[in-house]
Amino acid sequence: MTRLKLGVLISGRGSNLQALIDACQDSDYPAEIAIVISNKTEAAGLERAQRAGIDTAVVPHTDHADRYGFDAALDAALRAAGVKLVCLAGFMRLLTPAFVNGWGNNIVNIHPSLLPAFKGAHAHADAIAAGVRISGCTVHIVRPEMDDGPILVQAAVPVFGEDTEETLAARVLRAEHCCYPYAVRAIAEGRVRIDGSRAIIAEAASEEACLINPATKQR
Ligand code: GRF
Repeated sequence: MTRLKLGVLISGRGSNLQALIDACQDSDYPAEIAIVISNKTEAAGLERAQRAGIDTAVVPHTDHADRYGFDAALDAALRAAGVKLVCLAGFMRLLTPAFVNGWGNNIVNIHPSLLPAFKGAHAHADAIAAGVRISGCTVHIVRPEMDDGPILVQAAVPVFGEDTEETLAARVLRAEHCCYPYAVRAIAEGRVRIDGSRAIIAEAASEEACLINPATKQR
């Protein structure tokens, strides 16, 4: 089996990176991580990669006069590592249209809301403020606009009245760790087709469970 080579871009903790590392450790998983790149030297995710024996690089955005120079350096590092799919995993820089368009449909992101709701860096605070009963996460193909692009996989989680940003983030994060490896597997197996602004996944398991919050049986 030829495994799809991933390049994972991070800025911090790297728990989604860890979910991908764990998935790739399964010999049946159709992808492998070729390189992990951080724009921050102190990103904890770099240690996760090093512990797993994965090559890492730091490309500080502060070393570049503008976003174009930074993105060109990222692009060069990814291509030198033979990357075929770029996975943004808590990467806190907005990429330039030149970079995004250069990777076509081969760049994906995970966002902690049910897109297109609650784009941006404060998804959990915004979801709580809006009073939604259900939030979740989204893995999507990246387009130049922030948190935009064809949706691959979403998971829903309940939002409770007593939730804080932290408790909601922790609940959503558990769902993220399932969704990201699942979406990357579908791409690596060639099961994703892009149709305009939609992604169609062939042979996606049908899931009849639905989440209703508050539960209908409660008064
Ligand atoms: C995740 O919630 C992800 O959805 C968002 O940033 C967070 C990164 O967490 N884009 P981690 O670094 O993967 O732990």
